[in-house]
Order: sequence, then C-alpha cells, then structure tokens
Amino acid sequence: MDTLGRPLRDLRISVTDRCNFRCVYCMPKDVYGLEHHFLERRELLSFEEIAWLAGIFVGLGVRKLRITGGEPLVRRDLERLIALLAPLGSDLTLTTNGSLLRAKARPLVDAGLTRVTVSLDALDDAVFRELNDVDFPVGRVLDGIDAAAEAGLPVKVNCVVKRGVNEAEIVPLARRFRGTGHTLRFIEYMDVGHTNGWRLDDVVPAAEIVATLHGVFGLEPLDPEYRGEVARRYRYTDGGGEIGVISSVTQPFCGDCTRARLSAEGRLFTCLFALKGHDLRALIRGGASDAELHAAIEDIWNHRKDRYSELRSAATTDLPKVEMSYIGG
Ligand SMILES: C[S@@+](CC[C@H](N)C(=O)[O-])C[C@H]1O[C@@H](n2cnc3c(N)ncnc32)[C@H](O)[C@@H]1O
Ligand code: SF4
Repeated sequence: MDTLGRPLRDLRISVTDRCNFRCVYCMPKDVYGLEHHFLERRELLSFEEIAWLAGIFVGLGVRKLRITGGEPLVRRDLERLIALLAPLGSDLTLTTNGSLLRAKARPLVDAGLTRVTVSLDALDDAVFRELNDVDFPVGRVLDGIDAAAEAGLPVKVNCVVKRGVNEAEIVPLARRFRGTGHTLRFIEYMDVGHTNGWRLDDVVPAAEIVATLHGVFGLEPLDPEYRGEVARRYRYTDGGGEIGVISSVTQPFCGDCTRARLSAEGRLFTCLFALKGHDLRALIRGGASDAELHAAIEDIWNHRKDRYSELRSAATTDLPKVEMSYIGG
C-alpha cells in the first residue's frame, strides 16, 4: 500500500519513446520533428531486463501488465518480450495505434498476449489523417482491429476527444463499434506534458460525451468491474454492447489509482504527472539482486503520495511534466 492506502496492481511498460505517428495532442510535429533527440538503443531496457523487473512487480502484487510507448509495435520483435512476460501469469495487454497490427496480431497472440487496446480518434479519413499528422489512412487501422479480432484478441478502442477537432466523430465511432463486441472508450484530453499546448477549453467533458450518446442511442450506467477501473461503464439500452468514458480531468480518480509506469529507459514513475522517475536501470545494471530490487520498488511505492489530477488547478498546469510518449500512455 502507498501512503493513501492504494495497492500496486498495474504496471505500464513503455518499450520505446518513438512513434510512426505524430498525433497532434501527443507528439506534435514541430517538437518531435527531425531534430528531436530520442533515446538511443543502449539506453533502452532490453527485453530480458524488462521481464526481470516485471517478475519483481508481479511478486509485489501486480496483476496487469500493459505494454505501451511511444508506439510499442515499432520496437522490433516485440512478440519476444510478450513470450518472456506470458509465464508470469498476469493479464498481458498492449496499447497500440493499430498501424502495424495486421502483421503483428497473430505472432503476438501466439506469444501469449491476452488483449489489445487500439487508439482510434476518428472514422472520417480526412480527420484521422489530420490527427495522426503523418497522412496515415484510417482504413489500415480498422484492418488492424479486424486482424486482432481474427487472431482471437478481445479488443478495446480508445478515442481521445479534443474540442473542435473530433467531437463530430463520437457518434459515428459509437455506431461503428456497437454490436461488434469491441468496447469503445472515450478519453478526456489531458494536460500531460507541455508540447501539446493543452488548454481546459480543449477538453470535452465525459458527461457531455455520455449525454450525446444517450441522446442518440440510449445508455444506462454499469457498475465498475474492479477497484481502480478508470473507465466509467455504460451499456446501450437496446443491447448493443457497452462503452466507457475516462474522465481524468473532470472527475479525477487518483483515490483508486493502482498504477505504476516504467519508462523505456527503466525509470519508474508513480503518476502520469510525476516529475521525476526512479532509476531502476541503474539498479539492475549495477548488479542489484532480486531481493534488493523488490525492497527498492516496495519502498518507492510505500512513499507514494501522488494525486495530481485531484490537485489540478491553474497553478499546476504550468509545472514541468514528462511527455506521454516518453512515460508511456
Ligand atoms: C501515448 S499512446 C501510446 C500507445 C500507442 N502509441 C497508442 O497511441 O495507442 C497511449 C494512449 O495515450 C493517449 N494519449 C496521448 N496523449 C494524450 C492526451 N494528451 N490526453 C489523453 N490521452 C492521450 C493516446 O490516444 C493513446 O490512447
Ligand atoms: S498517441 Fe500513440 S500513436 Fe499518437 S503520437 Fe502518441 S504515441 Fe504515437
């Protein structure tokens, strides 16, 4: 338990800070262009180092491992990492922009991946290309989602909503995924990092998204499935399945946050908005034993008191923060 009584249950593992997209709300091109300095290969944790740390985390109570980034599928042979993590027996999932899923879905399943979350912010091709800012067609992401389903993976689809950019996509996305068995989740645009120029006015509150969908399809609330579930769940009253909304800005859920994040270079962050990570790579490359790593991580978690989203205010938005693509979204 941390200082606020929150257990450690989830670990998000970033495997790269690189990405083949330049989503305007995450890696805007003017900042992440040719000049940008990404991590060097030797700075990244190896798959063996990640698996070693993940084993310690599972020993401390982690039940869910999520691979993320940057775009995790741009890291070569990612299925090899999945195969190393699968024997740990925890829920093993991946968040991806879906661009490379057609080729990767089958090898990932064969290696032991249990679920996948695909980010998709628009169905309209022009809006989607504008959002990813690398002219990537939406059809290939939809095909990636199909490939994941064909390979037997349960699929969630995540959509970040930015005011004036993709609000008009909410209803078409819901219509597209109703009845498919894929759960669609809408995420409030968050003030992670500084490069995206976030403003509160850009946030479309989850309550507004729910009201819009309720007006068109009819929704009723569902109970959470487990402690720490970040999405509020709703079901279509006509039986078309369920949706979720993640209201990290308008209704923060720090009180139930059981998540830690491991950056691609092995820094442990206890909050998406933490300033500083704890350098676990220095410990493992310095010859620490399992017991020493276990004790170090336990100590970090025991001292955790982060609850940024609950404290968010005009003053906190200007504090320095790490970027989502670095820490792992
Ligand atoms: C950083 S990405 C990493 C994984 C992968 N590249 C992807 O896009 O799914 C993880 C998630 O964070 C979301 N995200 C990025 N920046 C965000 C922001 N400012 N507010 C809310 N969600 C954000 C993305 O939409 C994505 O669903
Ligand atoms: S949200 Fe994902 S796909 Fe988009 S730029 Fe960030 S890391 Fe890349």
